[in-house]
Formats: sequence, C-alpha cells, structure tokens
Amino acid sequence: MNDARREGQGSGMKVFVAGGTGAIGGHAVPALVEQGHAVTALARTPEKAAALAAQHATPVSVSLFDRSALAAAFTGHDAVINLATAIPPMTRFLSVKAWQINDRVRIEGSAAVVDAALAAGVGRLVQESVSMLYRDQGARWVDEDAPIDRYPMARGNLAAEANAHRFSQAGGTGVVLRFGWFYGPGAAHSEQLFTLARRHLGLVVGPPDSYVSSIHVADAATAVAATLQTPAGTFNVVDDEPLTKREYAQALARAAGTAAWLRGPGRAAVLSGDRLTSLTRSLRVSNARLRTATGWAPRYPSAREGWIATATALTHRGIAARPRTDDR
Ligand SMILES: NC(=O)c1ccc[n+]([C@@H]2O[C@H](COP(=O)([O-])OP(=O)(O)OC[C@H]3O[C@@H](n4cnc5c(N)ncnc54)[C@H](OP(=O)(O)O)[C@@H]3O)[C@@H](O)[C@H]2O)c1
Repeated sequence: MNDARREGQGSGMKVFVAGGTGAIGGHAVPALVEQGHAVTALARTPEKAAALAAQHATPVSVSLFDRSALAAAFTGHDAVINLATAIPPMTRFLSVKAWQINDRVRIEGSAAVVDAALAAGVGRLVQESVSMLYRDQGARWVDEDAPIDRYPMARGNLAAEANAHRFSQAGGTGVVLRFGWFYGPGAAHSEQLFTLARRHLGLVVGPPDSYVSSIHVADAATAVAATLQTPAGTFNVVDDEPLTKREYAQALARAAGTAAWLRGPGRAAVLSGDRLTSLTRSLRVSNARLRTATGWAPRYPSAREGWIATATALTHRGIAARPRTDDR
C-alpha cells in the first residue's frame, strides 16, 4: 500500500480523480492542488483535458470501464477519488431509461475503479454517494448510522458504496461520502433552478415543511480533500443547517432578487413515488462525524449564504441576475 507512510508524513499525496471535470470535481481538483497534492484526472475529451491542465492537474484519457487500463493509470497513486456520475438533466429526471447511464457509471464504473485500485496497490479509495439514501426522518437529525432505504433509483449509489466497502475488506481504506443536495456554480441543475427563480418560479419538491440537506460545491470540494486523512467509513457531506423546503425556496428567491409567484410541485411531487423520492423525503442530515474526524467546516453554513454567493458567481458568468444586498 502506498498511502499510509506518505500520509503519516503529512506530505502531499498522489491522487487520481475520476469525475474531476464535473460539478464537484471541478472544485475538488483545484482544492486538492491547492493543498499540495499531485493530481491526475480522467479526461474524456481534449477540451476537458485542457481544462484540467489549466487547473494544474495531469489529464489522462482512460475508460472508466477498462480495468487493466485503469490499473495502469492508477499505479503510483496514493489515493483514487471516484466522483464520476451521470445524473439525468431535470427534464429527464423522471425517465427510468435516463438513469440507466448513471447506473452503469455507478455500478460497473465503481466496480472497475475498485478492482483497478486494488490491482495497482492504491491505499485509499474515496467514493461519491448521496445522503438521499436515508429513509425519511421528518424533523429528526440523521447521522451515518441511520437506516438507509433500498429504493430502485438508489441502486447505483448502493452498489458504489458496496464497492468502496469491498475495497476496505481487501485491506485498503475505503471512504464513502454521502453528499447532500449540492448546488453552486458549475452544478447544472442549480443553474437551471436559479434561472427559474429569476423568472419568479420557485421549485419546492415535497412537503414545504420537510427538510433538505444541501452542500455548496466549493464546500463539497474541501470535504473531498479533507477525507484523504480519515479512517475508512461513511461520512455525510452536508452544510451545518438543513433548511425546510420552504426556507430553501425562500433562500433561492432572495439570492435571485425575486419573489416566487408560482411554486411547484410541492406535496404533489410525493405522488411520483420512487422516482422522485430522493427529492421529496425529509432529511435533516448531520455533518458531525466529518467535522469531528477532520476539522472540516463548510464555508457556507446553510443554503442561505451559499445561494447569495452562487448568485454573485453566476452573475459574473453572465447568467442574468442581480442579487439583493439588503438581506445579506
Ligand atoms: N447530489 C446532488 O446534489 C444532485 C442530485 C441530482 C442532480 N444533481 C445535479 O446533477 C448534475 C449532474 O451531476 P453529475 O454529477 O451527474 O454530472 P457532472 O457534474 O457533469 O459530473 C459528472 C462527472 O463524471 C464524469 N463522467 C460521467 N460519465 C462518465 C463516464 N462514462 N466515464 C468517465 N467519467 C464520466 C463526467 O465527465 P465529463 O465532464 O467528461 O462529462 C464528470 O466529470 C449536476 O449539475 C447537479 O447539479 C445533483
């Protein structure tokens, strides 16, 4: 194993990131580089390779499903971080077919990554998952020991988690990160939500008094970097203060500088059953384990502050918005 000795010395590690060009990865790669790690990242196109190089990472073109090529690419690395996902766009979120691509990335991709990491003698594996695996807990706080729900749309994340645990059972340090509902610049869904909010359309999915646990992508990135030092296990990656869906919609509207004239689909979304259950259930998730294990703390304690910062960033990117300053 490569990582134990080097981690103990507190020096930068050699880290391979799959999914480093995505919503979280786009922030995680620079966060890792900034902390002194040497980062290699999977690039699927020349454009993505150039973007990674601009972030001072070394791009590598390799298939997520090719075990031997992955093992060759992983050799010499202390840790592999798997952030590869293919969540359907909002317009296709209810389509079972659209989720099949994500399932392949999560089920077959995570298995190949673990097999290759073991073959290459990598010591640490960090696997992305989601906190929407927990059962609806109403207003109760949810920690990592809370029961999870094996609903059909969760199968990809459940398989990815099982592969990370298999890595630990084989002698490595397997870490599962259960992210909250992430948002921020670079997260396509949240950019779409923001644009809707600018048009006075508020989205409340599920009962307005149910909880949503969120995480700004910049904070998700620093959490990823922090977990290079944790023991094996599962960690929630959420901000400090989960909001109710009503409060979340208000935070978004305030950041967009608008008031919602229309809200949807609220309680009606519950009728979609399994297909929307990851968004309709009430989850007030705690980040205490991660904070205690690593000293990590989110820069944005709740979506209220995070959405204000997101609005400013999106405005700079040319997505029309003028956030109100009087409520900050
Ligand atoms: N947990 C949540 O909070 C949550 C829930 C629902 C939706 N969302 C939203 O869903 C949107 C999409 O999220 P996402 O994380 O799926 O996409 P993403 O942000 O585009 O990131 C996915 C990453 O995985 C990589 N990838 C995808 N398929 C791959 C494959 N076959 N082989 C290797 N790498 C592969 C992508 O590479 P490329 O860059 O080459 O494509 C990218 O680096 C986000 O914008 C987010 O807002 C988030």
